[in-house]
Order: sequence, then C-alpha cells, then structure tokens
Amino acid sequence: MSMLEAAHENDVELEGACEGSLACSTCHVIVTDVNYYNKLEDPVDEENDMLDLAFGLTETSRLGCQVIASPELDGIRLALPAATRNFAVDGHVAKSH
Ligand code: FES
Repeated sequence: MSMLEAAHENDVELEGACEGSLACSTCHVIVTDVNYYNKLEDPVDEENDMLDLAFGLTETSRLGCQVIASPELDGIRLALPAATRNFAVDGHVAKSH
C-alpha cells in the first residue's frame, strides 16, 4: 500500500489528483526524519520531475503515491506541505508538445 492509499483509508487529506500515475504533485509529502528518507528507494526521473513542480519542496520531499509501506518503514512520519499546486484546478491550460 502506498502512503497515498494509506492516507485515503485514514481520512487524511492528501489529494492524489492523478491517482498515482506520476502526473501531478498533489500527493507531495515530506519525510520528517532523514533516516527514514534514506531507507526509501531513489525516486525515478518522473517523480523528480513532478517534485520540481511541488509547492514547498524540501530535501526530504517525496510523492506519497510512490512511497510503499514496508516493515523497514515502520514508524515513518510524514508531514503535509502547507499547500499543493494542482494545475488542473489552478487555471493551467495544458498544451500539446
Ligand atoms: Fe499524482 Fe502521486 S497522485 S503523482
């Protein structure tokens, strides 16, 4: 289960606009302890691209839909950023390439 799914199952308001398809940054979370952050798999390029668009990016930011629960992560604490950017809602008009 991803942190995004865990949040939704526990009524935590983590948006997840693209439902985990790495096409948004609304599931941005901040790992509060760098030791836990270092246990995570490195983000793939697509995740880094989306994180670059995230509001309030930090050194320990990740996308919640990409952090998968595992025994090693037992006790991990995540903070939600003060805001998120959702281009679909905030008036961004997608252009074709
Ligand atoms: Fe969109 Fe995680 S829900 S990237």
